Amino acid sequence: MAKINEEMKRVVGEQRLGFMATVCADGTPNLSPKGLTLVLDDDHLVIGEVRSPGTRSNLTTRPSAEINVVDPIARKGFRFKGDCRVYAEGAEFEELVAFLRSQGAKSHIRSVIVMTVARVHPLISPVYDSGTTEREVRKRQMERLHELNMDLADDA
Ligand SMILES: Cc1cc2nc3c(=O)[nH]c(=O)nc-3n(C[C@H](O)[C@H](O)[C@H](O)COP(=O)(O)O)c2cc1C
Repeated sequence: MAKINEEMKRVVGEQRLGFMATVCADGTPNLSPKGLTLVLDDDHLVIGEVRSPGTRSNLTTRPSAEINVVDPIARKGFRFKGDCRVYAEGAEFEELVAFLRSQGAKSHIRSVIVMTVARVHPLISPVYDSGTTEREVRKRQMERLHELNMDLADDA
């Protein structure tokens, strides 16, 4: 059965920003943002590696990883876990780069990471525990964003 459903595809497609955790040689975590995180198909996520030598090096020897994608306005998202493969040359690499380009990627892509998603868990903020609706949460977050950007608005 497909691991990545329509709701997950929507959130990843809208956000494109995933936080990817890999495992370092000494067992410590390595966590870094990846703004080129996309759904490849029902079972795979794809990440354009532009400037992530640590992630890339970790995955070549320890393929296990987790990617969190969260909608910061809705305060909801997903945790994707699975093994990854890094493509840095050859026909598959070129095809994956072409896919990322077709999705609007402009940066120089040094390698492409593909995660075979084994498990997905939903993420939902405790703010919903009290019965707050998504509409209310969205409104509150938009107001907060607006407040944070007031300095910019004043300059305009
Ligand atoms: C918002 C944001 C988005 C980023 N997107 C990507 C990306 O899609 N691909 C990439 O390779 N690096 C991306 N980076 C840069 C890496 O996160 C950064 O170079 C990081 O230090 C890499 O760490 P690592 O080598 O341990 O993976 C992004 C950084 C930020 C702040």
